[in-house]
Amino acid sequence: MKRCLWFLLCGLLAIQIGSIAALGDDTPSPKKQEAAEVKACAEMAFTGFRSIADTREKRFQGKVTELSALCRGGQNAVTFRMTPWVDFTNYWGTGDLSSLPKGYLNTSGPQFRGVSGGLLDLEYQRIELIKFNLFDNAGTYRDYVAGRNGLTGAALKTWPQLRLPQSNPNYVLAGGDGEQVCKGQLIRARTLTGICNDIRNPLMGSTGMPFARNAEFETTFPDLEQTQLTKNRHGGRINLLTPDPQVISRKLFTRAQSNSDACNRGFGLPNNSPDANCDYQKAPFFNVLAAYWIQFMTHDWFSHMEEGHNAPQMMEVGCTAQKVNGVATPLTPDDVQKLGCRPSDRVDKTYVLQDSPPDQFSSGGRTYLARAPRTFANNNTAWWDASQLYGFDDVSVKRVKRDPKDPAKMLLETVSGVGGGYLPVLSAGDPAPAQWAGQESVAFADNWSIGLSFYHNLFGREHNSFVDEFRRQAALKPAADSGLRNPSDPKQVIRNQDVSADELFDAARLVVSAEIAKIHTIEWTPQLLYNEPLYKGMNANWNGLLGTGDPDTSKALADVVTHGFGHSKNATKESQWYSVFASGPGIFGMGSKVPHYDITNPNDVNGGVNHFGSPFNFPEEFVTVYRLHPLVPDLIEYRDVSKAPNQIVEKVAVIETFEGKATDAMRSRGLANWGLSLGRQRLGLLALHNHPQFLQNIRLPRLDTPTQQLDIGALDLIRDREHGVPRFNEFRRQYGLRSLTGYDDFVDQHLAVDSAARKEQAEIVSQLREVYGTHVCDASKVITDAQVNEDGSPINDCLGHPNGSVVDNIEDVDTVVGWLAESTRPHGFAISETQFVVFILNASRRLFSDRFFTSSFRPEFYTQLGVDWVINNGPGPQMMEAGAPNGHKQPVSPLKRVLLRNVPELTPELQHVVNAFDPWGRDRGQYYSLEWKARPDAASDPAFKQ
Ligand code: HEM
Repeated sequence: MKRCLWFLLCGLLAIQIGSIAALGDDTPSPKKQEAAEVKACAEMAFTGFRSIADTREKRFQGKVTELSALCRGGQNAVTFRMTPWVDFTNYWGTGDLSSLPKGYLNTSGPQFRGVSGGLLDLEYQRIELIKFNLFDNAGTYRDYVAGRNGLTGAALKTWPQLRLPQSNPNYVLAGGDGEQVCKGQLIRARTLTGICNDIRNPLMGSTGMPFARNAEFETTFPDLEQTQLTKNRHGGRINLLTPDPQVISRKLFTRAQSNSDACNRGFGLPNNSPDANCDYQKAPFFNVLAAYWIQFMTHDWFSHMEEGHNAPQMMEVGCTAQKVNGVATPLTPDDVQKLGCRPSDRVDKTYVLQDSPPDQFSSGGRTYLARAPRTFANNNTAWWDASQLYGFDDVSVKRVKRDPKDPAKMLLETVSGVGGGYLPVLSAGDPAPAQWAGQESVAFADNWSIGLSFYHNLFGREHNSFVDEFRRQAALKPAADSGLRNPSDPKQVIRNQDVSADELFDAARLVVSAEIAKIHTIEWTPQLLYNEPLYKGMNANWNGLLGTGDPDTSKALADVVTHGFGHSKNATKESQWYSVFASGPGIFGMGSKVPHYDITNPNDVNGGVNHFGSPFNFPEEFVTVYRLHPLVPDLIEYRDVSKAPNQIVEKVAVIETFEGKATDAMRSRGLANWGLSLGRQRLGLLALHNHPQFLQNIRLPRLDTPTQQLDIGALDLIRDREHGVPRFNEFRRQYGLRSLTGYDDFVDQHLAVDSAARKEQAEIVSQLREVYGTHVCDASKVITDAQVNEDGSPINDCLGHPNGSVVDNIEDVDTVVGWLAESTRPHGFAISETQFVVFILNASRRLFSDRFFTSSFRPEFYTQLGVDWVINNGPGPQMMEAGAPNGHKQPVSPLKRVLLRNVPELTPELQHVVNAFDPWGRDRGQYYSLEWKARPDAASDPAFKQ
């Protein structure tokens, strides 16, 4: 082993030195600097790689040694090591052209070191996230910590808590009182409630299971002050309505308007006049289609609500107090007027699943809580199963209409004046609360928007496109093998002509779900995180790190596996974590290529999944980082595809496309026009002072309250507090990110001292100080056990400042406020690094845990056409994109293909588009440019003059 390691290290050293020697004379780096980098790489290689941390306070925080920084990013990377933010963003090649020292798209030399270094950092983070951040609320946590029957917890694969209860209609079929292993009809397709995805743990991920946590149970619900650490951290300063959520919203979230009349609180001007204007901070590389995409996704993954409402009890939502000179002071009517908040707003409380005191247990000399003090049900399936389209319980499925003429299809209607099929509208017999009247009849119908209408209709069409193609091929070759098999009669070939309408409907659902997962993984996310390491990382996530054939990603994996796991002294841990990682990241199709695959063999059907010892569900902390309301603009710049796409013909208020009005807007104007409009417009930056005006004042007639209004920005804070999400600084520590020592840390140190942007950030720092306040610190109070200071000492209330000094109440900052305030971000990141770290863990897990994305990605379930469709992004052979965008030859991206197929009116516009989530009129420039510049034939688009 040692010898192997030595060769690997020498090999790596040779690559790094070789790549630097190859720089030649054309490098812009001064010779001295170049030599220093060469030396740093050599020394770094000899000092060896870090091991995976044994305890959480020793984990990797995205911060590297000075040698590594110098090797991977030169002096620039060394300079920014002192900030709390992750280092990889300062490496060579991880930004735009200016991050490339040797010119465009050089795959050796500094760019190679920088990008592979970034990937290496991300892999360390992911492994340690899997190791330290899994906390299941379904009763399995004790076994995870203490192990069971001689197996360590992380190696467990089945849990008694995930058996079907006797009350479940499939109880007997799954095995009843005996060993439960789903079989027969239960395993052929995605089930309505998500049971039997993991055939040995039938309840996993099904509707109604508790949300998990990524933060230690003891640190959740900080206002309950469960531990001395939490008491010390917050000093009694926080609770559900303190600091006041509506005051936070008005002071920190409101979009400033240059002309409030032109915005009219988000309502725009009469007749949708294009003269209306609501200012918002825009992300130049991400469009409004991307904003609605993520709303569409969250409706697949989770919901705290049931059929559009919360629990029956009502509660206050703030607008009562603010800090004046650091002291909480009741708001006067004048203050209320000036702030624009509403003291008489009320909202229904969140549903609680369990709130009895949790059990405790001891293991290894420590006492643990067996679950969080309160838990909440995920009222959706946690699987990426397109349940927003197909249903997740007995009620929601009644709204899913199938075509009586061909029940394999979704029912789509013709609407006069606009082309293509449209989902039917809810009718009197459909189960739906009053607020959904007039909307399309879909499974997940809450907070209906024009974007949701767009995607539901689009994927309704895609479902039918698949069925049409299957029927077309079946008509040509009726006796050919469809690929499907029935586990009750596994040897029987199911010919194309034998496939029933139900079987075809189910196969189409599998295909649509997998396409959606693929779009999200390799099209939406690489545009959300628009840089080279993430492009490579996300493609590797889908295709498998080793399967990509990409030298950077493969090397990063080999380095971590060999050096990270190879050193562990604990044999169980070594093999366990080694296998976790070495087998894991293939993810899509993992375990589906075993020889002699047998659909009746649970090891084949289920063999590719990996839950890392903790059953899959989304954690509450995941919901928090998806509270992305600032993405939404107040006004949509409406265009007409049949006229001049460059022209903004109307400005339509988003609030006028809410609930039933979305359906009217869709049916009167059509999918193609909305696609063009949402595709061209930039979405809102995730930043403070960027919440839509309309969402701060939304009218929800379902509420039986004096105002029937809510501030959704404030509600986002309240919901997180109800769900016990740790506040921002501890949230970061829990996820292995470095915590901040005060509000000043939010200022981006890359900015010039006298720049306007830096002054704006300094202004935000003072606003945070005004809203959250300061206190005199006490260094004797230790505030966390998740992290220690760099010198190994505990982190205390003074956060590195002298005892007794006045420090910022940075520990009290709500998580959403904190990540919105993060202005230091990796290049092309539309989200913050704090949100990103949550995705690294959970985005991987929802692929790792799902057998339909791993060992059941097979023709036996999908049909052969289905498997090919997912791999090729549609029927027929793979289509390749022209040229090599950002240096990569790549297939035409999956959403672009879905749009071309189902909304053909968009074909001329889409010719210019590489990624459907990059604003369609933008010139992508070279190498991850973020410039807001029109492509030549969109030069007359007024959006580029703004
Ligand atoms: C027209 C646009 C939108 C409207 C009107 C809207 C409205 C709402 C409302 C009223 C709630 C409150 C539910 C509660 O009582 O807790 C909510 C929750 C939420 N919204 Fe939005 N929203 C919109 C767009 C988005 C977008 C683009 C995202 C992006 C991901 C998003 C993500 C969320 C999340 C994660 C929740 C919490 C859900 C839960 O707790 O289960 N929303 N939204």
